[in-house]
Amino acid sequence: MDNLGKKLARKFDEELRFFKGWIDGPKAVGSVLPTSGVTARRMASVVAPHSGLPVLELGPGTGVITRAILERGVEPQNLYSIEYSEDFVQHLIADFPDVNIIHGDAFDLDKTLGANGALTFDCAISAVPLLSFPTAMRIAFINDLLERIPAGRPVMQITYGPLSPVPPGRGNYIVKHFDFVVRNFPPAQLWLYRRGTSG
Ligand SMILES: C[S@@+](CC[C@H](N)C(=O)[O-])C[C@H]1O[C@@H](n2cnc3c(N)ncnc32)[C@H](O)[C@@H]1O
Repeated sequence: MDNLGKKLARKFDEELRFFKGWIDGPKAVGSVLPTSGVTARRMASVVAPHSGLPVLELGPGTGVITRAILERGVEPQNLYSIEYSEDFVQHLIADFPDVNIIHGDAFDLDKTLGANGALTFDCAISAVPLLSFPTAMRIAFINDLLERIPAGRPVMQITYGPLSPVPPGRGNYIVKHFDFVVRNFPPAQLWLYRRGTSG
């Protein structure tokens, strides 16, 4: 197969997988189609590959963003990807054998990361469908992630609503709109969260 053929086959495979994930648990998947390559690359653009720190990914799904993070130059063994769906996990392990694919809940990172719970990450890249969860859980999620990365480094979050899924002014974090990507279905909003200066 030529390169274009391989790319199309991979895309088709990812969409089929995504559709199956959606049938199995629409609330957990949270959107209609896999993240586009354009969006994945925008999200991965905040990774600092030479920081020497590992990267944390939440909700990798079919692995589009995982691939974009690796393409930034992150070593596979320096990427930790937390996925809730068993089906996606099996495919991710097959596609990315050297990435730390962890089956578990991104809202319970102490348990999910286990022995790796004390790691400091360069940044966190999340496609977890936050709008499917209560606001208090979203705030706790961002706070937990920010505890695991150096001050000033970002949590990147994709969402599909017009507003930040984590409201500003509800904790020690700063919210910044990063991008609106129309080359995604549905069009995607990207948000960054960083520690504020107080506390
Ligand atoms: C919108 S999809 C991600 C799409 C992905 N970027 C792709 O293109 O395939 C959301 C993903 O988050 C996962 N997810 C949902 N809740 C989760 C949780 N609590 N912990 C970890 N992953 C979760 C879902 O299983 C799904 O793979």
